[in-house]
Amino acid sequence: KRDKRPPRRLFCRPGCLVMCLLLHSLVLMTFCFHHAATSCSKSCYCSENEEGGKTVRCSNLQLTEIPQDLPNDTRRIYLDFNHFTTVPSNAFAGLPHLVELDLSHNELSQLEPGAFRGLGSSLQFLDLSSNKLVNFHPEAFEGLRARANLTNNPWHCDCNLQMALPRVDLEPASLTGIVCQTSEPPDIGVEGLTFLLVPEIDLCVVMKKTTDVAMLVTMFGWFTMVISYLVYYVRANQEDARRHLEYLKSLPSRPGKSEESSTISTVV
Ligand SMILES: *[C@@H]1O[C@H](CO)[C@@H](O)[C@H](O)[C@H]1NC(C)=O
Ligand SMILES: *[C@@H]1O[C@H](CO)[C@@H](O)[C@H](O)[C@H]1NC(C)=O
Repeated sequence: KRDKRPPRRLFCRPGCLVMCLLLHSLVLMTFCFHHAATSCSKSCYCSENEEGGKTVRCSNLQLTEIPQDLPNDTRRIYLDFNHFTTVPSNAFAGLPHLVELDLSHNELSQLEPGAFRGLGSSLQFLDLSSNKLVNFHPEAFEGLRARANLTNNPWHCDCNLQMALPRVDLEPASLTGIVCQTSEPPDIGVEGLTFLLVPEIDLCVVMKKTTDVAMLVTMFGWFTMVISYLVYYVRANQEDARRHLEYLKSLPSRPGKSEESSTISTVV
């Protein structure tokens, strides 16, 4: 490749030397990026196994943010015993071959929507145990069919969680790891129970009751309005009828009939 460069320079005008240097640095930069993408993340320890897959170990490194320089041929990552508090969207999107992801023993309280985006077809095991998860947005696990370890988190079992669970595609056994520590409404006896095993308890019932009361009040309001209108209508018609009868009475009438009409008036 080197022997091609001198003849090239012969065709260059003076200003072109700069161009050549720029091209040269571009080639170098590409090489560097390629190198970064295929080598190990800084501060982590990498090893290749026989199948060619890479294992990245970043355990117990006091990390506070998920490393963004993980090699794209990583198959297993151990990020346990660090200080992560959140998994941002697309945190692992550049890792199409990831099979196992260990985020256990961190301080995760939040999984942003799309946190595991891009891992749907490859990821088989996700460890989120021993964190601070209380709730999650169903979109956090979008497309993920992995087996997840969700145990040892302070799960807060409420209507939101109950509605989110059916929308999660994780291997169903994973959800048995959600053991309620607190609940809303409190003291309904789900604390300490696996959430999936108490399907007869409807945590959304409180919300439904509130809706029912609102419906009742609205219906009562309408009912009152209709009744008031009816009463008003009848009264107005009574007035009219009386006036009409008085008019009839004032007309010259056959004797005997007058008494009859006065009786009708009294009745009305
Ligand atoms: C990793 O990225 C490089 C380019 O940055 C690409 O050439 C290579 O094929 C990728 N490897 C995998 C396993 O996707
Ligand atoms: C899940 O994690 C807990 C604690 O981190 C561990 O004791 C348990 O064996 C794990 N469960 C599975 C199914 O791997």
